[in-house]
Amino acid sequence: MIIKTAEFLKSSQRWQDCPEGNLPEYAFIGRSNVGKSSLINAMMNRKDLAKTSQTPGKTQLINHFLVNEEWYLTDLPGYGYAKVSKVQRKEFEKLITNYILNRKNLVNLFILVDSRHEPQKIDLEFMEWCGESAIPFTIVLTKTDKLKPGAAQRNLQAYQTKLLEYWEDLPQMILTSAEKKTGCAQILDIISETNAM
Ligand code: GTP
Ligand code: MG
Repeated sequence: MIIKTAEFLKSSQRWQDCPEGNLPEYAFIGRSNVGKSSLINAMMNRKDLAKTSQTPGKTQLINHFLVNEEWYLTDLPGYGYAKVSKVQRKEFEKLITNYILNRKNLVNLFILVDSRHEPQKIDLEFMEWCGESAIPFTIVLTKTDKLKPGAAQRNLQAYQTKLLEYWEDLPQMILTSAEKKTGCAQILDIISETNAM
């Protein structure tokens, strides 16, 4: 897919405030600092369409972008951010789960996980929740440029082994680097293939 236009539309506090759900939508989700906003910028060939930061917790609202005037790309706040109170964290989780469950035009979630780390409980639990809720998702391993060649592939296999402990079918998995723009075309291919609204 060629990106002709990508524009920021709106930041929303709640799913009810999101732009009209008249176009197919794809959302990026994952732990704070995993690289959601950076990968969105890499895919869109833009430096700071989505705001990035070295400090976790940068994205705090639901951010909608309109791409090629045909579909929405959504940058969600990261989950599992440690430096907020328990109450705030629950509020965040509610914002995210409500958005996912109520946003009818959401076609696919891209769940981002850091390619350098072993499968984390919080991500595995979130994937399980998506499975139970019948939410289609793709797993995206980020920051592969920080690994030696071969290590990312090994970590991907470790992830698959872990998932097969309790999943019968493996979700689609993509190795990416926002730095090197690896995997961006693959994500866009998935979006093209499923963009049938
Ligand atoms: P929150 O909005 O806080 O949830 O974070 P986020 O998931 O949007 O992460 P963000 O894109 O802001 O990136 C976090 C940090 O990781 C930044 O310092 C980025 O420069 C860095 N980063 C993101 N992607 C990559 C990558 O592919 N390679 C490298 N080397 N660094 C990356
Ligand atoms: Mg962000």
